[in-house]
Amino acid sequence: MSDHRDVLDGRVAVVTGGSRGIGRAIVQHLARAGATVVIGDLNEPSDLDDGGSITCAHLDVATEDSVVTFISEVVASHGNLDIVVNNAGIMFEEPVVGHSVDRWTKALAVNLTGPFLMAKHAAEHLAARQGIVVNIGSIEGYACNPNHAAYAATKGGVHGLTKALAVDLGPMGIRCNAVAPGWIDTELNASYIDSHPDRDKIVDALAKLHPIGRIGDPTDVADVVTWLAGPDSAFVTGQVITIDGGRTARPNLPSALW
Ligand SMILES: NC(=O)c1ccc[n+]([C@@H]2O[C@H](COP(=O)([O-])OP(=O)(O)OC[C@H]3O[C@@H](n4cnc5c(N)ncnc54)[C@H](O)[C@@H]3O)[C@@H](O)[C@H]2O)c1
Repeated sequence: MSDHRDVLDGRVAVVTGGSRGIGRAIVQHLARAGATVVIGDLNEPSDLDDGGSITCAHLDVATEDSVVTFISEVVASHGNLDIVVNNAGIMFEEPVVGHSVDRWTKALAVNLTGPFLMAKHAAEHLAARQGIVVNIGSIEGYACNPNHAAYAATKGGVHGLTKALAVDLGPMGIRCNAVAPGWIDTELNASYIDSHPDRDKIVDALAKLHPIGRIGDPTDVADVVTWLAGPDSAFVTGQVITIDGGRTARPNLPSALW
């Protein structure tokens, strides 16, 4: 087992959507493990409290020109690129019947085309460095909440893309894996809880869906991503690792039975 504190020393990582939420926790974990980290996001983080190993540059993952510019700037500034974490994502609620094609296309562009573009344009740099790609999928790549057709379709696509990247880029020395988080406490899904008339009751009910008795924290995801980005996972590629407190391990039963 490597020393967690310096396992990524000398490595340059980019984290898309790293300004808040899960991405922000990933940025902090990678930096703590020794990496130089560049956040690529539409928005700047509210603070950069790291002593210089974390910077931020504008990136729209849905636009190829923006991806090309971002990656060239990272390589020009830091000399290398070793780790790409495709975390940027959007989610909204819309039923299939009457679904806006514009919103469907937007979800595909950010959640699925974004990781494809990042891998496509980072590959030549990653290849020289035994590089790593980690995609953020979702348990909604396996199953779907109501009114989440676009989100679930893109996350299922991310899981498939992960295998395609592992197969196509493996011979270049690049590993690619994904994580599939369950319910993680971020602004992405806070509105579900915050708009509920009895917030405490809904938090309790959500926790009970999980065999370990709680919802997830961004650091739960960041821990696994950091392992996938480092040498201790050297023989792991093409995998989707579920991080959901056991939620998908337990099929639903009528509540009267348990
Ligand atoms: N929160 C959860 O419960 C959960 C569960 C499973 C998977 N995920 C996935 O984890 C990832 C992060 O989710 P989160 O909860 O931290 O979300 P979040 O909304 O808190 O943060 C998303 C970040 O992505 C950035 N972003 C959005 N569009 C972008 C674009 N086009 N280009 C660059 N950056 C862009 C946003 O500015 C923001 O900083 C997403 O891919 C999401 O689908 C989240």
